[in-house]
Amino acid sequence: MVQLKVNKQTASPLAPFKSNQESTENKIVYDTRQLNLWYGNHHALKNIDLAIKENEVTAIIGPSGCGKSTYIKTLNRMVELVPSVKTSGQIIYRDRNILDASYGVEELRTKVGMVFQKPNPFPKSIYDNIAYGPRIHGIKNKKILDGIVEQSLRGAAIWDEVKDRLNENAYSLSGGQQQRICIARALAIEPDVILMDEPTSALDPISTLKVEELVQELKQNYSIIIVTHNMQQAARISDRTAFFLNGEVVEYDKTDTIFSTPSDKRTEDYISGRFG
Ligand SMILES: Nc1ncnc2c1ncn2[C@@H]1O[C@H](COP(=O)(O)OP(=O)(O)O)[C@@H](O)[C@H]1O
Ligand SMILES: [Mg+2]
Repeated sequence: MVQLKVNKQTASPLAPFKSNQESTENKIVYDTRQLNLWYGNHHALKNIDLAIKENEVTAIIGPSGCGKSTYIKTLNRMVELVPSVKTSGQIIYRDRNILDASYGVEELRTKVGMVFQKPNPFPKSIYDNIAYGPRIHGIKNKKILDGIVEQSLRGAAIWDEVKDRLNENAYSLSGGQQQRICIARALAIEPDVILMDEPTSALDPISTLKVEELVQELKQNYSIIIVTHNMQQAARISDRTAFFLNGEVVEYDKTDTIFSTPSDKRTEDYISGRFG
């Protein structure tokens, strides 16, 4: 453990369980270069340059409509499901440009898991929710599937709560539990990256805390990019924060810096609650 760098006299008061790890030497997992995106004529992402580091939690913050979801959905190419979408620029994921026409989206789906705002388990048993991805990838052996299901549920900190009811429908769980099932489902494909779009905004405070703690643990093994409109959450759980405004990245830096000594007046105005 390295001592937390504090830029000013005061550390952020919003950071009770943030990591103290210096991670300047972490590799870049996603390098976004001059990314532009249009929905028809609407220019939704403008010249985005972001180098996202592995084994970190990267928070994307900004007011509603600034392009947070669009950006995160570009990282797994979900955004191209919208017919009017056009992009320019590059997103280099592990040395290859995923926006390149030759890049197979199926390959990306095996590397990048996604968790949405509203928990969206399948209307199936808890077991089948987790086994779904591995089965699609051809795993049929019951013992192997059992192992993946247990490991994924443990990884999502929900095993103890559901181990005796794996055959019950996932809908029988609370919202907070369903969201951890969705995280377990993402883990079951053994991803490299986990994208989360406001994963706690539909959850109660206790479930939110559980998911936040889980995100902190998961970064040991995964790179996590989380959209949140909750600034306290970004300050609590992320290593780096990007502040989006009107489709642009206004500022991107270590989370401590963003929340203590932002360099742009607009960042300061936003984090102090003057707009958004
Ligand atoms: N499918 C779509 N078609 C057209 N415009 C869209 C679509 N999705 C989002 N937008 C527009 O793109 C902008 C960014 O939206 P979004 O990425 O959802 O913002 P955020 O997640 O920050 O609230 C908004 O102006 C929104 O209206
Ligand atoms: Mg959004």
